[in-house]
Amino acid sequence: MVIKFDLIAAACENMGIGKNNDLPWRLKSELAYFSQMTTQTSDANKKNVVLMGRKTWDAIPPKFKPLNQRYNFIMSRAGVNLEGYKDCFSFKSLDEVISKLQDEKFKQQYENVWVIGGSYIYEATMNSKYFHRLYLTKVLKTFDCDTFFPKMKDNLVKVSDPRVPEKIQEENGIQFVYHVYENPDFNKA
Ligand SMILES: NC(=O)c1ccc[n+]([C@@H]2O[C@H](COP(=O)([O-])OP(=O)(O)OC[C@H]3O[C@@H](n4cnc5c(N)ncnc54)[C@H](OP(=O)(O)O)[C@@H]3O)[C@@H](O)[C@H]2O)c1
Repeated sequence: MVIKFDLIAAACENMGIGKNNDLPWRLKSELAYFSQMTTQTSDANKKNVVLMGRKTWDAIPPKFKPLNQRYNFIMSRAGVNLEGYKDCFSFKSLDEVISKLQDEKFKQQYENVWVIGGSYIYEATMNSKYFHRLYLTKVLKTFDCDTFFPKMKDNLVKVSDPRVPEKIQEENGIQFVYHVYENPDFNKA
């Protein structure tokens, strides 16, 4: 099985993704989309991996932690206390993450790897040879943000995915649209 990173992010007009270690907007239907995309598998005996940075982990409200029915992978150089959390693993580098994903026993247990942020984790995985797709929700408004999505590669190709609605969405007067981009260099290495 080839390792594949699928990134999923929501960014506003100025490519902001966060403010004060929280999301800058409240879009329940967008969160439901995130949850569905990262949870669903074609093999009922497998679960997906969600890969995130320690601050994104911290930003998840306690009642939703860990993200259920998914293996939670948290990157932290300092280390993170995951005592009492089931199916959660911490990693000090992307190489450590890749080793775990290549582990013969673990390979039987997971299906997709969803990269769920924040900035560094998106950047490092987009620059890796395992970068497959970016599922980007564009929020069609500008919000005050302190964390931003990294520069996207110029050669990404827009594709469609039957699971992703194509029409403009709207909630609480805020419009947003789901995009899917594919890395044409994936699997060429
Ligand atoms: N809109 C969206 O789609 C979206 C998605 C995700 C997050 N967010 C928002 O983005 C913000 C959080 O993102 P962020 O970019 O500030 O932080 P982050 O990437 O979630 O976490 C940063 C932390 O990850 C660890 N880390 C970073 N590089 C590492 C490396 N090379 N090796 C090992 N560990 C590494 C470090 O943890 P230690 O300090 O523990 O060493 C670092 O402090 C929040 O506001 C959140 O709500 C938005």
